[in-house]
Amino acid sequence: MVKLAIIGAGAMGQAIAKGLVEAKLYKAGEIKFFDLRHDLLEGLERQFGFGFAESFDELISELKSESILVFAVKPQNIDQVLSDIKALDSSVLIISILAGTKIAKFVERFPENPIIRVMPNTPAQIGCGASALAPNSICKSKDLERAQEIFSALGLATIVEEEDLDLVTALSGSGPAYVFYLVEAMAEAASKLGLERSKAEALALQTVFGAGTLAAQSERSPSELRAQVTSPNGTTAAAIESLEKNGFKETLFRAVSAAKQRSQELS
Ligand SMILES: NC(=O)c1ccc[n+]([C@@H]2O[C@H](COP(=O)([O-])OP(=O)(O)OC[C@H]3O[C@@H](n4cnc5c(N)ncnc54)[C@H](OP(=O)(O)O)[C@@H]3O)[C@@H](O)[C@H]2O)c1
Repeated sequence: MVKLAIIGAGAMGQAIAKGLVEAKLYKAGEIKFFDLRHDLLEGLERQFGFGFAESFDELISELKSESILVFAVKPQNIDQVLSDIKALDSSVLIISILAGTKIAKFVERFPENPIIRVMPNTPAQIGCGASALAPNSICKSKDLERAQEIFSALGLATIVEEEDLDLVTALSGSGPAYVFYLVEAMAEAASKLGLERSKAEALALQTVFGAGTLAAQSERSPSELRAQVTSPNGTTAAAIESLEKNGFKETLFRAVSAAKQRSQELS
């Protein structure tokens, strides 16, 4: 029996499978992929021991009542995938990580299955993800607990209403890119002001890593930590004052709003 089946062996499908094995929640042999790229599946089997199915029918036939089926293809491929799946045991828990694809699309096809829509993010690849989970109305608490166990093994997992997922996409789904952009901008500034580029990049990156880790481990809130390093009339105070004067918070507000709106348009 396959415990966890994943359709789509791309970046996120692999991140989930590797993370779960790393966290010792599943053995590689309990996870099976299906993807159109046979060479990719063979490589994953050779390198990590994940199983793979030769066809949808083969994968689906191995799913029993305790199994979980994860959809991890791109949104533009989901209609094809759903039409290729013939029948599915109604007790199989369905998890979809597709951005901007509503639970209703899956309910239409599998009206009796528990379905959970999840928005993960790429740091899940290293067990530092932030995922939000939205269950459909027939999900039992046991189903939600199983999904939470999976995404907790990949980082933080929190439960939200489906209507909040566009905002979650704009916050934590796209958020890693905002942080990468911040690192780029900090390094660029220091380099323009005279520091060697490679040194500026290394220091900016380590600063974001260190500050994020400190904030995650500290009992204090991010604003308390900021206040702690901001002495009156000091260097940090000069920088924060400049950020405030130049609308840093408003800029971020507009960025998150734009991403939310785009997510709504896509879905
Ligand atoms: N990456 C992120 O940061 C992120 C964050 C949150 C959510 N997501 C969601 O996660 C999903 C997967 O993203 P990704 O970045 O992992 O995409 P990806 O790397 O493109 O992986 C998708 C995989 O599915 C395969 N595929 C396409 N059509 C298929 C079919 N009919 N049957 C089986 N496999 C098929 C693709 O093969 P081909 O390459 O040959 O098409 C590819 O290997 C997306 O829906 C995305 O919205 C991603």
